[in-house]
Amino acid sequence: MAIKCRLPHPSALMLMFISCREILLCTGLTVDPPEDITVLDPGQLGRLEITWSPPSSIINMTECSVSYQLMYFNTYKESWASVRTSRRTYRAQFDLSKDVTVRVYTLLDGPCTNNQMIKSTNFTELIQKPPTSEIMSIEVQDFTCVFYNMEYMECEWKLSPKTPANIQQNLYYWYRSLEKAVQCPNYIMTHGERSGCNFTQKLFPDFTDINFCVNGSSPEGRMKPLFTTLQIQNHVKPAASEKLCLQTGPDKQLELNWEAPLGSVPGHCLKWELEHDNQGPDARKISRIISTTQTNLILPSSDSKERNCFRVRSKLDKYCVDNGFWSDWSHQICHPGRIQDTRRRCTF
Ligand SMILES: *[C@@H]1O[C@H](CO)[C@@H](O)[C@H](O)[C@H]1NC(C)=O
Ligand SMILES: *[C@@H]1O[C@H](CO)[C@@H](O)[C@H](O)[C@H]1NC(C)=O
Repeated sequence: MAIKCRLPHPSALMLMFISCREILLCTGLTVDPPEDITVLDPGQLGRLEITWSPPSSIINMTECSVSYQLMYFNTYKESWASVRTSRRTYRAQFDLSKDVTVRVYTLLDGPCTNNQMIKSTNFTELIQKPPTSEIMSIEVQDFTCVFYNMEYMECEWKLSPKTPANIQQNLYYWYRSLEKAVQCPNYIMTHGERSGCNFTQKLFPDFTDINFCVNGSSPEGRMKPLFTTLQIQNHVKPAASEKLCLQTGPDKQLELNWEAPLGSVPGHCLKWELEHDNQGPDARKISRIISTTQTNLILPSSDSKERNCFRVRSKLDKYCVDNGFWSDWSHQICHPGRIQDTRRRCTF
């Protein structure tokens, strides 16, 4: 179906000021959807290149500017994403274990449409099914990555109980400065099986999508691959604080302070939880959590018949990152108590 470009009758010039949809209805301007849509996998674990051609019916059109509206189903968000582009190619991230669904419309603008944007009523669609694996029911579970104190990262997974013993599992990763997916440099082994990957140095840039895939095969066939994407700054687990200090101040008040873990974790991003156990003369223990962004705290005077114990843990605050893990608890320090470190004076 070619374009019918009809100039409106002079008395209908007012049409120019009404909406595109009405122009379309009144002048009958239509345009075909694009052709030859293809999806190419450059081996980047789900980052796919979509390409298409303009409809052949508009190839000879001058005075027309052609662009496209691309819609693709984002399986991570379970919703459609939409982009406009004048190019004939676009790259987007897909979960390769699910269907890849892409639709492209043609958009036409310029003098040939009275400078009103016209969109093809139909779209060209491509649905690509994931490759079927021979042992589909076997897949990796509980894939988690922890970026320990922002120094090294470990990603671990579990296999479903039905997994045959002779399955060889692999982890691959990709991010934007790599041409192709790369295999895990250092596997973590459990009972002779690969169960994780240790990235011993800081390998990945932060605030960048990193794609991971865990796949595997055995003589019986391939298992269902797992695909996931993450940004490392949202997986930080700070080291436990080692320097927790407690002393009594004037009027027997309890003065506590502690230090952020050494290393690259930005101290201003940490929030803290202080656990306070209070044991009275009747041996009844009361436990409470105090949340703070400071690294010191003064508690009102303590009854000499009481025993107070404390420990702290930290996590990156949501002002800095979207998510994170709590550190392990620090050692516990008590007043009165043997555990108290009297060699060091608390610094306030
Ligand atoms: C839209 O395209 C689909 C196939 O891509 C076709 O089956 C359908 O007839 C088209 N509709 C119109 C109105 O051209
Ligand atoms: C696992 O994925 C990598 C990277 O995409 C691929 O090269 C390899 O052939 C896959 N292995 C299996 C067993 O599917």
